[in-house]
Amino acid sequence: MFDVAVIGAGAAGMMAAALAGQRGLHVVLIDHAAKLAEKIRISGGGRCNFTNIGTTPANFISQNPNFCRSALAAYTPRDFIDLVERHGIAWHEKHRGQLFCDESSEQIIEMLRCECDRGRVTWRMPHTVDSVALEQGSYVLHSGQGKITARQLVLATGGMAIPQLGATDFSLKVARQFGLKVVEPRPALVPLTFDAQAWQPFAALSGVAMEVVVRSGGASAQAPSAAGKGKAKQTEFLEDLLFTHRGLSGPAILQISSYWEPGTPLSIDLAPQQDLEPELLAAKVGSRQQLGTVLSGLWPRRLAEQWLANVEPGGQNLAAQRLADVPDKVLRQLAQQIHRWSLTPNGTAGYKKAEVMRGGVDTRNLDQKTMQVKAVPGLYIVGEAVDVTGWLGGYNFQWAWASGAACGRAL
Ligand code: FDA
Repeated sequence: MFDVAVIGAGAAGMMAAALAGQRGLHVVLIDHAAKLAEKIRISGGGRCNFTNIGTTPANFISQNPNFCRSALAAYTPRDFIDLVERHGIAWHEKHRGQLFCDESSEQIIEMLRCECDRGRVTWRMPHTVDSVALEQGSYVLHSGQGKITARQLVLATGGMAIPQLGATDFSLKVARQFGLKVVEPRPALVPLTFDAQAWQPFAALSGVAMEVVVRSGGASAQAPSAAGKGKAKQTEFLEDLLFTHRGLSGPAILQISSYWEPGTPLSIDLAPQQDLEPELLAAKVGSRQQLGTVLSGLWPRRLAEQWLANVEPGGQNLAAQRLADVPDKVLRQLAQQIHRWSLTPNGTAGYKKAEVMRGGVDTRNLDQKTMQVKAVPGLYIVGEAVDVTGWLGGYNFQWAWASGAACGRAL
């Protein structure tokens, strides 16, 4: 009989297992994958964006936004940096507080494996758990490879993003089995797609990238000046956008995708550092330039040409018209469309392309200091399986470390 069984040897599961083991508990860590912590391995382009030094509860989405406060305060980015430094891993800050390994994400995996070994954690990997039962106060895990019994159970199998790497909804299924509520899971930090016919003119722009302000909630959004770099309000991000064959991607779109509700429009400001209406009207005086050339000074030429050909008030061969000849009314309309491009995605690129899952086990079921299920003693749920979803930029790992640590110290 183990003191603790942890199912899922990813970011949160290894943190919880290591800390519990180092406190003298007899811990078994179980994972169905053949290779350890694949998501850490591929994260941050192979360098693992392991935390964000600006982490606050405002960087997370949850039906219960205050739930993450306690765990985040008790295990901070500084705590994880200290661990990284104790293991001699060199790191650097890349962009807006995002910390990456100088060399490789393998170093983070090795560090966590080493911390588990310090806690004398027993590994069962690859090992698939078929069923979980609570029998006379102990958790009994059945599988084709035999039975594992433990006094306490930690569910740490993460979210459903990237099923091709073995992601499953195992924690959600077990949570439901124990009568817990689950907030509807959905792909998040994910590219957005559009109706193929409507997108056809923009598909040619695949590969074009530019800085934009993107808002969920459509045309009612506020002035572009409301967005500050790295200080976006919850529904507004100033980041790069990328055109793809099927729709839009890039950090701006991944961020807003976590807030996007199906059927609702996005509003995109394609010239966030500009106030185009007065600029175009002023530039008009005495100008001999064609409108297409003027917009090419602002954007990649491909975008300027496509935009003037395809977006109303197009149809008037605007690109070839001299700026001086374009009526003020048309210039005003054009400026407005560029600052408030309103478009409605028809969906997301799905779990195959998502970085995380939004939703998960309803936090109202859990104690915020320990991650223990309030109604089921000895059962804990940590990491991405919980309804706490971070922004892009190291926040999701910080949640995995913090929730894993909260649990590992409480077991
Ligand atoms: P995690 O997914 O790490 O671990 C879950 C473990 O459970 C896995 O080892 C899995 O094999 C196992 N498992 C699943 N089902 C099982 C079952 N039925 N039985 C047994 N075991 C099972 N975040 C960030 O902060 N910075 C970044 O740079 C990135 N980059 C990034 C890139 C890509 C491509 C993706 C897909 C994701 C990211 N993320 C990220 C998100 C981050 O990887 C993620 O939020 C954390 O890994 C979640 O940690 P968990 O421990 O909850 O799950």
